[in-house]
Amino acid sequence: MRAYDVILKKRDGHELSKEEIGFMVNGFVKGEIPDYQMAAFLMAVYFRHMNAEERYNLTEVMARSGDTIDLSFIPGVKVDKHSTGGVGDKTTLVLAPMVASCGLPVAKMSGRGLGHTGGTVDKLESIPGFRTALSEEEFKKCVKEHLIAVVGQTANLAPADKKIYALRDVTATVDEISLISSSIMSKKLAAGADAIVLDVKVGSGAFMKDISSATDLARAMVDIGKRHGKAMVALITDMDKPLGYTVGNAIEVEEAIETLKGKGPDDLEELCIELGAQMLKLGKISDNLSQAREMLKNSIKSGKALEKMREMIMAQGGDPRVVDDTSLLGISKKTYDLRCESSGYVGGMDAEKIGIASMKLGAGREKKEDVIDLSVGIRLRKKTGDEVKHSDVLCTLYYNSEEKLQEAIKLVKESYKISKSRPKKVEIVHGVVD
Ligand code: URA
Repeated sequence: MRAYDVILKKRDGHELSKEEIGFMVNGFVKGEIPDYQMAAFLMAVYFRHMNAEERYNLTEVMARSGDTIDLSFIPGVKVDKHSTGGVGDKTTLVLAPMVASCGLPVAKMSGRGLGHTGGTVDKLESIPGFRTALSEEEFKKCVKEHLIAVVGQTANLAPADKKIYALRDVTATVDEISLISSSIMSKKLAAGADAIVLDVKVGSGAFMKDISSATDLARAMVDIGKRHGKAMVALITDMDKPLGYTVGNAIEVEEAIETLKGKGPDDLEELCIELGAQMLKLGKISDNLSQAREMLKNSIKSGKALEKMREMIMAQGGDPRVVDDTSLLGISKKTYDLRCESSGYVGGMDAEKIGIASMKLGAGREKKEDVIDLSVGIRLRKKTGDEVKHSDVLCTLYYNSEEKLQEAIKLVKESYKISKSRPKKVEIVHGVVD
């Protein structure tokens, strides 16, 4: 077999066999197929796409390229959750303790942030002492003893995806449904869960800007998972504005803790209840969604979810006092209030620009190797739908560098659209694909 022929076949729109896909992926990982041929192959896929069988095979080959995690030591159904990435998305920080406190084990591998989207692992590292790099034994011990562990992906989880993603990132081939769905699902399959709840974001801060493409992505991932024998549900959720009122790292952990105390923003709490209810149902903790929702609401009301957060922090070496005293998270003391220059309503927000502004402050990475500043970020004071008067504070920026602050201010200013009339309220969950 020759890489040239496989590229040509896809370029001309034909279906590839499992052997051809395996040949390209494995050859690339071993260094036998050079970057320029893999880049041409990815561009051919970008324009010609892959059908369901090809996507299944691509996922399978990438999932098997490295370690696979064996979660069979945990009794019952193992349920994972994945978000396609957004701005201010601290869902895992709230959801994991909520569902674990209801009796569902959470053995979660999360990622770091890249570009305008944040990552759970970075956020957790703003808790003093918190370790996200546990050994496999430590990870298993945490889940066994506490029903919860949230860690970074092991270096050898789906290495083919890692190498291909790095090439996609520099060849404008990230945003194609076959490539995104197989990339995400290869890591989920390697991580060993029996059931997966997907949070597919749609809107200005998401990969998918409209509901139809978000639904196509959700269907592609649900289909790949089902073909691999996994129970699957995807929620299509709003990312036209940041989730909650904070964007950054330490500042998002603070909001997550407040949410576990019952004092969080409505959109974040509602999303956690909806995703959590699907998880409890797939995990057979509850046989219907309304009962599952009640269990989750009660986990907050009773304080059980907050205690589970404290337990997780302690088990992973972090300082549990942050739960009672969030000033220990070290959010920057330097603040700048951005004020509104007219009156009316926040008619819309460009969530991606807010994410980029947070990245410019230092909270995110432009390149994988960048070192981030966990103490900076943005606290929104007004969001889409809120009434605003001249001079009201739209948001507060937490910064450490004057130069970075100026860049961020410009982006945040551009991201707020002030209109004369109140925009229609948008529900957090747009739809369910199962
Ligand atoms: N997240 C991933 O893990 N892969 C993609 O291709 C896009 C988002």
